[in-house]
Amino acid sequence: MSKVVRILVLHGPNLNLLGRREPEVYGHRTLAEIDAELESWAKERGVELDCLQSNHEGELIDRIQASMGEVAGILINPAGLTHSSVALRDALAATGLPVVEVHLSNIAAREPFRSHSFVSPIALGVVSGLGAAGYRLGLEGLLGHLEI
Ligand code: DQA
Repeated sequence: MSKVVRILVLHGPNLNLLGRREPEVYGHRTLAEIDAELESWAKERGVELDCLQSNHEGELIDRIQASMGEVAGILINPAGLTHSSVALRDALAATGLPVVEVHLSNIAAREPFRSHSFVSPIALGVVSGLGAAGYRLGLEGLLGHLEI
């Protein structure tokens, strides 16, 4: 029997507040709703998701390191760490796994400090500005890359 494909799904700081946090920018969907929808979509494809939201850079990095050898790829919305964390980028790069970066908002169309991402240069691809649908589109791209 072939092994079930697992994908690590990471949500960075403040994304636990989705639904309440600046809904005009990030939408009305909660993170629990987004994860549940993504899980059921992944299940139809025979893929298991390992979802984590953390407000702590170190916790995200620990999970990335622990996922090495356990998952086939990483879908991540690094949130504010996108623009500040060399350590997060290094952890993602160290895995050698395909990484898809997701943003609910279009980070290129907002404040100038959001235009730079430390993650994008090591990512397979980026989905930005398509709201909650971006997670599914990002996962679809990742599975396509993995030929699943
Ligand atoms: C975000 C964009 C980031 O600039 C911001 O810090 C976030 C969310 C997004 O999903 O649009 O927390 O990653």
